[in-house]
Amino acid sequence: MEPLDLIKQAVKAQSHAHAQYSNFTVGCALLSENNDIVLGCNIESAAYPSTMCAERVAIYAALSKGITKFKAIAIVSSISGKPCGPCRQIIHEYLADIPIYISDGKSNDYETHHISDLLPHPFG
Ligand code: THU
Repeated sequence: MEPLDLIKQAVKAQSHAHAQYSNFTVGCALLSENNDIVLGCNIESAAYPSTMCAERVAIYAALSKGITKFKAIAIVSSISGKPCGPCRQIIHEYLADIPIYISDGKSNDYETHHISDLLPHPFG
């Protein structure tokens, strides 16, 4: 699957976000080794810390389906935001050093990162 196709799936996930407090929607699409696609969006809560990021929603959903091997991940938000610290830790622990495509979901431009660059000297 081409990066832009995975990014398109992340845009679809972004449209499902529950971002009623921040108005900042994030979408994530994970491509498994078997070419399954698992989506995640951010889900916010009135008890703010209960909010969950799109990346971890997707990763936890995939793991819950028994999917443990991944080829790529796409993350979409209006500012092409990079994953937050806790998401970087979970990406480090549960995804291999796969390409992380980051896009604003509007243009055909995207950045490619690896967790080894985003989280040097990780815990664990
Ligand atoms: N958010 C994500 O979904 N992923 C990140 O990596 C950073 C932040 C969400 C959480 C919250 O719903 C909103 O973006 C604003 O922080």
